[in-house]
Amino acid sequence: MPADIPRPWWQGGVLYQVYVRSFADSNGDGTGDIAGVIDHLDHLEWLGVDGIWLSPVTRSPNADWGYDVSDYIAVADELGTNGELDALIAAAGRRSIRILLDLVPNHTSVAHPWFVDSRSSRSSVHRDWYVWADGTPEGSPPNNWISSFGGPAWTLDEGTGQYYLHNHLAEQPDLNWWNEEVRQTFDDIMVTWFDRGVSGFRIDVCNMVVKDALLRDNPPATDADSFTEQMFGQRWLYNCGRPELHDVLRRWRSLADRFPGRVLIGETPDEDIDVLAAYYGRGSDELHLAFDFPFINAPLDADALRQIVAGVERAFPPGAWPVWTGSNHDMSRLATRWAQGDPAKTRVALAMLLTLRGTPVLYQGDEIGLEDIEVPPERFRDPLGVRYWPAYAGRDAMRTPMHWRDVEGGGFTDPGVEPWLPFGDLAACNVEDQRRDPSSMLHFVRSLIALRRTSSDLAFGGYRALDSPVGSWCWSRGERTVVCLTLTDSACSFEDLTGTVLLCSDRTRDGEVLDGGLRLGGWQAAVLERHRG
Ligand code: GLC
Ligand code: CA
Repeated sequence: MPADIPRPWWQGGVLYQVYVRSFADSNGDGTGDIAGVIDHLDHLEWLGVDGIWLSPVTRSPNADWGYDVSDYIAVADELGTNGELDALIAAAGRRSIRILLDLVPNHTSVAHPWFVDSRSSRSSVHRDWYVWADGTPEGSPPNNWISSFGGPAWTLDEGTGQYYLHNHLAEQPDLNWWNEEVRQTFDDIMVTWFDRGVSGFRIDVCNMVVKDALLRDNPPATDADSFTEQMFGQRWLYNCGRPELHDVLRRWRSLADRFPGRVLIGETPDEDIDVLAAYYGRGSDELHLAFDFPFINAPLDADALRQIVAGVERAFPPGAWPVWTGSNHDMSRLATRWAQGDPAKTRVALAMLLTLRGTPVLYQGDEIGLEDIEVPPERFRDPLGVRYWPAYAGRDAMRTPMHWRDVEGGGFTDPGVEPWLPFGDLAACNVEDQRRDPSSMLHFVRSLIALRRTSSDLAFGGYRALDSPVGSWCWSRGERTVVCLTLTDSACSFEDLTGTVLLCSDRTRDGEVLDGGLRLGGWQAAVLERHRG
């Protein structure tokens, strides 16, 4: 893109995922809410984020914590009101922070009036809004598809004698995206929110929206298939990722393009970079951003990560912009998964996220290095933990409340109130203490974000991998900026570097002037600026 064309805000910006139930509780019921987000905008503004992705805030029976929607337009009572959401959009806007909502187009709740009507009779108005099919003559489900959450993807509806499809819980029936009314209705939902000032959507389960029109059986998995497919024993050929999905993505993009400054980010959990690249269409006609799961799932290893970034640089169409994230409400937090609780590693991971070419998305708590918190089974909230314990503990460990202060209630809720999920060690990791300490993780993240703001190299500059010792990773951004990471216990020497250290992960070398090279200890990161000339 020529330098004189203004870049969209989300390319140079930093996004931040707020898991609303666990961010801040304004009314002392133990559950985070929208007013709590408003109360903590100071923190986000001080940190320097440009946009907030709110996990689902609309009505839901909460079989899957908001991802089973029963009303796409009304805010859930326990999280606030539509007026409060408007107030959040306005208050954030005054601080130049945009609000993105989580849109769940793949499925609704069984309690959604559309599904209630759909299952009421085979001839109901909304029957065709969902995926209904007859079982086999032997009494088995219509095909062999397996739910992402395990077990058959079909449930028999006794009343009408047909099966409905659900790629997640049985409480989450899949919508039929071959039905034009469904498409039109979601256009209207998007427009409603755009009109209310929402700056975009994170699109849930974006890869699955369109299914095979013939509902064909998936073939058995082979050694060549992904880990997930091998685990489920079948290749995910017909239940997701159909070519016709791209018609829907183009439709959404052209709708979003009617509103200035909006962004669509897909949850696109594919393991193949070429499949990921395809979500961008020709570069500017499908999703603006597609979450990079190969990167999220990679180990914190120089070769593995460098290869993924090289793949993205190779495969993405012109104009497509990458997005980098290390944690979310479904994945173990990066401070645990990538860094095993070692703060030096966490800093390296955060430096990487915030200096690669693309939009970083931080998950709440990443900025203080918050780790997963072990939740005792009797307090499990995630249906997956409840269903699969002890084989799998579910996703509660990464959804626990934010650690604001080392006080009773954690600054999250009132003293004496039991939060909906437990805290970890508040004294060891909290926002207030880290804010007082200029050498903290929190200040490091803030400095990285601030650096991105003042450096067009870091915000927009091209990525080029540079040679570096084994276990390290070094790249240049734009004209003069270089990033060096050591992803190993050993020290590494980076040759042929002159310039100034702008930021170093242990903060002791900020401002150091280099004379021909840089030696970094194990698990360190440094951002440098080459001198002109
Ligand atoms: C997405 C959400 C996850 C949810 C699932 C079903 O993967 O991120 O939390 O359980 O969709 O809606
Ligand atoms: Ca509350």
